[in-house]
Amino acid sequence: MTTRAAKTTLKASTNAKKRTPSRSTSKAPPLTIAMPRGRILDEALVLFKRAGIDLGAAEKARAGRKLIIPIPEHDVRVLIVRDADVPAYVEHGAADLGIAGRDVLEEQDRDLYEPLDLGIGRCRLVVAEPEDRPVDEMAKVHLRYATKFPELTRRHLQARGIVAEIIKLYGSIEIAPLVGLADRVVDLVSSGETLRQHRLREVETILEVSARVCVGRAAAKLRSDRIDDLVARLRAVVDSG
Ligand code: PRP
Repeated sequence: MTTRAAKTTLKASTNAKKRTPSRSTSKAPPLTIAMPRGRILDEALVLFKRAGIDLGAAEKARAGRKLIIPIPEHDVRVLIVRDADVPAYVEHGAADLGIAGRDVLEEQDRDLYEPLDLGIGRCRLVVAEPEDRPVDEMAKVHLRYATKFPELTRRHLQARGIVAEIIKLYGSIEIAPLVGLADRVVDLVSSGETLRQHRLREVETILEVSARVCVGRAAAKLRSDRIDDLVARLRAVVDSG
């Protein structure tokens, strides 16, 4: 921010040659929040509204496929991004804070603060396998696990002492064991309907998941007043149930 302000001043004074530079009237940019599109967004908007920050315009703009949404009445700007991309925007300072699932945060393990668990977007990361083809972990066969979460899967397998190949996929994980791509899947379960429809059974839960506020290190220092205020308001709403 300082660098950008300094560059602007330099350019203005060069253009104006010998004119006396006027005092900068530049104001801090709006607080930028990276929100994941999809299920979490709807629940997050409800929480923010209860916290006195109506981001309803974000919902309307999303319907119109707008992805950068200014909310001037709250001096906020919302970025609508893929859930797995939220931590990158926040870590690199393109967003001051973000909302991301614990699954995504732990998978990427970036340098972020996580000041608040919002308790929304609840689901579980589980190991599952075909009901009629249970895996024998002790058998010396070449096991394959399909998942969107290779790092969490790797940690889980390592902790269990299971040697297996991890196949990274980007969606529709449940079909992998049905078509011979994998023996097991590691995937998110919410209602359990997708597992049921594909005749998969849960073997165990790896992680209880809900969405959290994440904050980058630079923003935590430079924008602490705004962020602390927002987190305090959201915390009050979360605590009140
Ligand atoms: C997620 C997850 C499961 C499903 C679980 O997929 O990967 O497939 O939801 O929900 P359920 O237990 O309520 O059935 P998502 O909808 O995000 O799509 P994807 O398969 O493309 O990842």
